[in-house]
Amino acid sequence: MTKKVHIKTWGCQMNAYDSGRMADVLKALGYTSSEEAEDADLVIFNTCHIREKAAQKLFSELGRLRPLQEAKAAKGERMIVAVAGCVAQAEGKEIQRRAPYVDIVLGPQTYHLLPEMIAKVARENGGVLNTDFPPEPKFDYLPEPSACATSAFVAVQEGCDKFCTYCVVPYTRGAEYSRPPEAIIKEALALTANGAKEITLLGQNVNAYHGESSTGEIWTLARLIEKLADLPGLLRLRMMTSHPRDMGEDLIAAFRDIPKMMPYLHLPVQSGSNVILDAMNRKHTRDDYKRLIDRLRAVRPDLALSSDFIVGFPGETDKDFGDTMKLVREVGFAQSYSFKYSRRPGTPAASMKNQIPEKTKDNRLHELQALLRDQQMGFNQGMVGKTVPVLFDDNGSRKTQVFGRTPWMQPVYVATTAGEHAAFSGMEMNVKIAEATLNNMKGSLV
Ligand code: SAH
Ligand code: SF4
Ligand code: F3S
Repeated sequence: MTKKVHIKTWGCQMNAYDSGRMADVLKALGYTSSEEAEDADLVIFNTCHIREKAAQKLFSELGRLRPLQEAKAAKGERMIVAVAGCVAQAEGKEIQRRAPYVDIVLGPQTYHLLPEMIAKVARENGGVLNTDFPPEPKFDYLPEPSACATSAFVAVQEGCDKFCTYCVVPYTRGAEYSRPPEAIIKEALALTANGAKEITLLGQNVNAYHGESSTGEIWTLARLIEKLADLPGLLRLRMMTSHPRDMGEDLIAAFRDIPKMMPYLHLPVQSGSNVILDAMNRKHTRDDYKRLIDRLRAVRPDLALSSDFIVGFPGETDKDFGDTMKLVREVGFAQSYSFKYSRRPGTPAASMKNQIPEKTKDNRLHELQALLRDQQMGFNQGMVGKTVPVLFDDNGSRKTQVFGRTPWMQPVYVATTAGEHAAFSGMEMNVKIAEATLNNMKGSLV
């Protein structure tokens, strides 16, 4: 008998990837994925803990789920509820206390044990909490990804040892771990055999990758990329997220030497002030960052950059914030994410004095986002009139247009008719850009 699993995911690409892998594990147990929580036999909330309100969001979501679980119980059926991800890791006990009807609480390193936990819950009718960091890496025990899209993700590295003073990730994801290169190549091969044309290598610090091969050699990310670039059928390679400290010479060279390496790099700087960067424990200065950008642009002049920014970190003065604005003007970003500093219990910055008033954070965020929007708009509008290669996605049901991305990640829509969709899926075609807005572009095939 087939059972239904509903997975809802918050947070980063790594969480999205993990949700896919959990779905793969469950498939082997006869679970098919469902868009609806209603009537599901298993509901998994895959949570994110990066900023405040994550836990509140989870509890209100769980509150909404409870009546559905009860309705199912009234029919003599069971809805198993599981909370996964970074809130589970950080607040597992609290979840069990406040929502005793949650059957399973599992941390990000235990997803390969999910079948065991489900069996235990089904057998014993009690709760399971597993937020261990097991010695065996989960990746080795998860099945290969089954679903496949034009654009696929492969986790190469997980965890973080950098301990930026604002960040929960080192605590929720654990120490840095790199998968062996052979396992990654095998997974990538399976994806391309299934039709993937673009692979994004994922990791919390993807460029810190240092996987050990079966022969005991340590591979850098650059070496891995060089190898993956040989995969037949693969057109594009990307990576996410990189840390400025781990941008090695060989990886910079990869942007020059490997044509499949896309000219787009997400390289979070967080702040443009040396005082704040130091307090954040980023271990790089604004000049280090700018020099790095210069070196990257020297080998790949069309490189588009994106970044993350935090405004209102404890002690951030108007001058510090001004330094961030200045850095943004000097570098120029094609796309960015910016956040108000959020106090995370247990992190060093949470107990720093000089917390910044909410109002000041709001104003700074507003000002920074206006500048970042201008830059993004300018970048997109710079494409108008140009012809660029667009990799078209799996354009399932859209009737009047197909969707794809430029090498610089910009979304592009091309008008089409109903019967033509299939001809675009997974194809890279030249598109002349006619219009550009902040968030997307329109054009026609050349
Ligand atoms: N490993 C990546 C980022 C992972 S978290 C890196 O080092 O860049 C994603 C982003 O969330 C961070 O880049 C940061 O901008 C933001 N972030 C993390 N903790 C935060 C906090 N306490 N408050 C506000 N933003 C935060
Ligand atoms: Fe968090 Fe810093 Fe690690 Fe990124 S490098 S995950 S911001 S601690
Ligand atoms: Fe969130 Fe965990 Fe990713 S805290 S950003 S889901 S690593």
